[in-house]
Amino acid sequence: MEHTQYKQNKPNLTAEQQDQITAAAQILREGGTVAFPTETVYGLGADVTNPDAINKIYQIKQRPIDHPLIVHIGDASHLDTWAQAIPDSAWQLASHFWPGPLTLILQRSRRIPDSVTGGQDTVGLRIPAHPVALALLEALGPEKSLAAPSANRFGRISPTTAAHVQEELGAAVDMILDGGACEVGLESTIISFHDQSPQILRPGGITLSALESVLDSPVLLAHNTSQTIRTSGSLLAHYAPATPLKIYSTKHLWNRALALTAQGLRVLIITWSDIGQSQPSNQSIEQFSMPADPITYGQQLYAKLRQFDQAAFDYMIIEAPPEHPSWLAITDRLQRASYNPFDNKQN
Ligand code: TXA
Ligand code: MG
Repeated sequence: MEHTQYKQNKPNLTAEQQDQITAAAQILREGGTVAFPTETVYGLGADVTNPDAINKIYQIKQRPIDHPLIVHIGDASHLDTWAQAIPDSAWQLASHFWPGPLTLILQRSRRIPDSVTGGQDTVGLRIPAHPVALALLEALGPEKSLAAPSANRFGRISPTTAAHVQEELGAAVDMILDGGACEVGLESTIISFHDQSPQILRPGGITLSALESVLDSPVLLAHNTSQTIRTSGSLLAHYAPATPLKIYSTKHLWNRALALTAQGLRVLIITWSDIGQSQPSNQSIEQFSMPADPITYGQQLYAKLRQFDQAAFDYMIIEAPPEHPSWLAITDRLQRASYNPFDNKQN
């Protein structure tokens, strides 16, 4: 199945990496913050049981304190240390997809402080499938776990390399562990079990159909309602570059770009189909082709958005992804990245 590619064998790290992980674990025990790689995006980690360390995460990210953090654990057998009243379906998903890009929202245990959950009685938990993250959790030991949101400022694009974290958070973080480019490139799928019925709060690395086939029952997809608003990734505007970004269907893409160039604007068109090949060249338009499959598209998306954001375009125009369910997480992130609350008032 699709998820198996994220499963990692026992960490196989160099002696130098092991030394860095030992140092990182010490920083975390002393209440510091460490950015570390996961298979999805880089996380900004702190000791879950240390409220002062957790506060540092909120300060560094400039994140509102009512937006809860995901807790990363090293082994599924630790799950009931951090959560309670765990439904069978959650155990089933954990044993199937962990380590991997799936976050389970469960009732929290008393070991999870209010500061981690924004006062909610639930907590998000996952085992990341990255050898560096797993080695760090192992070095911390079974009594500890890592609260870690994505290592970016609130509302901005998640980092998928150590260099992205360095650029965005730099000296604010005590240590950055470099584990290369993230394999998935989009955040984990978040699933809740409200009233026993599994519901996706954020589409991500594990697809809806993969979840349904393991549970052998339907999984709902939450829309932006008051139920999901506590998921910061569910805010309408999120994951955003500074350059305005618009999504248009393949059919309208080029005309919209031309209309902008007529106003003297420099436009980047980001496609996945071969639509660009049949268009006349235009000095104010540049075109970039993304991969036409969702896995590689997802791996590259955030890094490309960061790169394009620095390239002084007035507008980025993105071709709407295919409507196939395997593109759901990408469509979700692009919609939030392109959301502009003033759109309805303009024109
Ligand atoms: O792939 C990922 O999930 C990455 C890596 C680092 O693990 N983490 C990540 O964290 O994306 P963050 O904080 O950027 O996004 C986590 C989302 C937030 O939108 C948060 O509101 C939501 O998870 N969340 C956390 N705990 C929750 C809870 N108890 N109920 C509902 N949503 C929750
Ligand atoms: Mg985030």
